[in-house]
Amino acid sequence: MRIACFASGSGSNVEAIFEAIEDGRMSARCVLLVCDRPGAPVIERAVRRGCDVFVFAAKEYPDKEAFEREIVAELERRGVERIILAGYMRLIGQVLLEAYQGRIVNIHPSLLPSFPGKDAIAQAFHAGVKITGVTIHVVDEGMDTGPIIAQESVRLDNDMTHEELQKAIQRVEHELYPRVIEEWIKEGANV
Ligand code: GAR
Repeated sequence: MRIACFASGSGSNVEAIFEAIEDGRMSARCVLLVCDRPGAPVIERAVRRGCDVFVFAAKEYPDKEAFEREIVAELERRGVERIILAGYMRLIGQVLLEAYQGRIVNIHPSLLPSFPGKDAIAQAFHAGVKITGVTIHVVDEGMDTGPIIAQESVRLDNDMTHEELQKAIQRVEHELYPRVIEEWIKEGANV
C-alpha cells in the first residue's frame, strides 16, 4: 500500500510512521510528504528517510482548487492509494476529497467532537477537563468531523502542566496512529 503523509509542522507523527514502517509494524510505504509550510522541520525528517517531498506555499496559488490539483497530480504520479494527515493544519477541499473519497485519515489531539480546530490541547487544558485524548477519523469536508475510527483517552492529573499534557498526548499519538493506520489499511473498516 502506497501512502502519502501531509504535515505542516514538526512532524513527530510522520517520524513515528516512518519508524513503524522501518521496523515492520506497518506494511505501507510512504512515497510522498506533502507540506504546506516551506522550511517546516517535517521536511528534513522526510528527506533524511529518502522520501519524496512536495512543498508548496498556498499564497502562490489563486485558490485551494489550484494547489490541490497539483497535489493530486503528484499523488497520482506515484500511485498513492491513501492519504495520512499528520498535523496538516489546512482544511481538505473538494478536489482532494473527490480524488480520495474515504481514503484520507486524520489525527486530532482531543476526544472529538470536543475541542475541534486549532490548539485542541490548550482548549482542553483551559476548559479544565479531567479526561481528554486522541481521535483518529476519516476526513470529510468539515473541520475534524469525519467518521471516527479510534480514540484513546488521556487523564489529566491535578498538577499537570500544559507541557506535560502535550507530551502525554504525543506519546499516545505516536503509538496509536501507526497501529490504527495499519488496521485501517488492512481491513478498510472500523478498528
Ligand atoms: C499533532 O498533535 C496532531 O494531532 C495535531 O497537530 C500535531 C502535529 O504534531 N493535529 C491537529 O491539531 C489537526 N487538527 P507533529 O507535527 O509533531 O506530528
